[in-house]
Amino acid sequence: MQNPWWHSAVVYQIYPRSFADADGDGMGDLRGIIEHLDHIAGLGVDVIWLSPVYPSPQDDNGYDISDYQDIEPVFGTLADFDELLAGVHARGMKLVMDLVVNHSSDEHPWFVESRSGKASPKRDWYWWRPAREGMEPGSPGAEPTNWGSAFGGSAWEYDAASGEYFLHLFSRKQPDLNWENPAVREAIYAMMNWWLDRGVDGFRMDVIDHISKDTTLPDGALRPGTPYGDGGPHYLNGPRNHEFLHEMHQRVFAGRDELLTVGEMPGVTVDEAVKYTDPAREEVDMVFQFDHVWADRGADPWVLYPLRLTNLKAIFGRWQAGLAEVGWNSLYWNNHDQPRVVSRFGDDSPRYRERSAKMLGAVLHLHRGTPYVYQGEELGMTNTPFASIADFRDIEALGHYAQAVEHEGRSPEDVLTVLRARSRDNARTPMQWNASPQAGFTSGTPWLAVNPNYPQINAESAVKDEESVYHFYRRLIELRHEEPAVVYGDFTMLLPHDERLYAFTRAHGDTTLLVIGNFSAETVRAEIDDAAAWETAELLLTNATPPQDLVLQPWQAVIYRAVRR
Ligand code: GLC
Repeated sequence: MQNPWWHSAVVYQIYPRSFADADGDGMGDLRGIIEHLDHIAGLGVDVIWLSPVYPSPQDDNGYDISDYQDIEPVFGTLADFDELLAGVHARGMKLVMDLVVNHSSDEHPWFVESRSGKASPKRDWYWWRPAREGMEPGSPGAEPTNWGSAFGGSAWEYDAASGEYFLHLFSRKQPDLNWENPAVREAIYAMMNWWLDRGVDGFRMDVIDHISKDTTLPDGALRPGTPYGDGGPHYLNGPRNHEFLHEMHQRVFAGRDELLTVGEMPGVTVDEAVKYTDPAREEVDMVFQFDHVWADRGADPWVLYPLRLTNLKAIFGRWQAGLAEVGWNSLYWNNHDQPRVVSRFGDDSPRYRERSAKMLGAVLHLHRGTPYVYQGEELGMTNTPFASIADFRDIEALGHYAQAVEHEGRSPEDVLTVLRARSRDNARTPMQWNASPQAGFTSGTPWLAVNPNYPQINAESAVKDEESVYHFYRRLIELRHEEPAVVYGDFTMLLPHDERLYAFTRAHGDTTLLVIGNFSAETVRAEIDDAAAWETAELLLTNATPPQDLVLQPWQAVIYRAVRR
């Protein structure tokens, strides 16, 4: 079988709300994206993934969709969309849409109809259940299961009109669609085909390992400190998940060329990922796993742990080995749900921000898999110094704050400390285009405040400066396009027990690459076998003065190439 094009591709993610505002309402839009396409094309990426742009009440910033086949008016029109798509294609790139079909908005006509009564022909399109046996409907604890929702509170919402509850694993405005019902699946496939016929090049599938539930809906084990149980084992990677994705492949992707499909799968294991991405099984091209972005947290996501580099390396090593023969990895540090990586795993002080951002980019992009760059990552954008809870906008942050402070009695200052490090709003502050007011993002008032460091960190100055993070990312992407060892080389982890250096080789044919990243503010010598030989190899890329004796400066990264003759 021929190697698919996306093996050597790099994807750039746009979060439209925060990318560029062309009409001054404080919210990014499609025309804003159109105006900035050259910034993205200049990086050399192959694909753009657009977070949701569909009509939505915006309860979860567009991940709550009320019409799958139109454009949210705040973002523009279908005509703007077609123009954007043409602009992307004209620059030799592809466009991948976000597909949010585990749930819809409660304002989607499907749900409005479903909610209209027990006799509704669409009643069974969602998960409706009576109260727990023997309990008064609507009374505390009468929910059909004890599951908590991802954004706080129960995963069940009571509907007094019918005396039943509907399931929402996320907010109460995001009711879960019932994939057991074939009519639901047909409607989704028809919608996907409509977008592909319009010219889009694939889908990023939101929480797509949640679509198959254990239909007996058992209670979950109680989560310590909360009244709720963990329903995860009953809805993550459920009994029919592979079957549904294979069916989707048959009904939507089969016979179409040059698509890219990536499934977001919180909690997916390596073994399951091999199945999801085995080309012979015809499900998805690759998945987003979460192990490495959970490396610095425990069972309770709201407790901070320092990163242990050995843990991070063990995780990546496992994924690289697990998908070496069958399947394919996706590679990411950032997206709209993660804090900024330079603040999280690097050093965002003025002294080392740029150098550590480049080191993180080099390490990630030299793994085997398809790298994803999230808007602003190519500038080394950082977390934001949120002053109080009033500065946050994200439903997850606000939900956690309410739960922790009001219901669990935790100190507001402690909760804020965690939110400053972890909140998704860190990723969502407006893109920093230049040093003019509001970072050039909007002429109005931005929906979420701009990070105050925009006079120093912005696209205009980065593009002008050959030594910037932007140009370093550009070179990394170029390297992937030019050097087959980056795409196909066998991965071998070195120094697995070292807490400061991340080192590995990639071997392909006659070529071996050596990559070392210093995850510390100390000067460190890499004690690897045949260090002397590497010293004379070709240094393809580094972010500081070339090392002597493999002695790396703080946060330095090196990429060497040796060719056997
Ligand atoms: C995914 C999205 C996230 C959203 C959630 C519910 O994890 O990336 O932003 O809140 O699904 O749709």
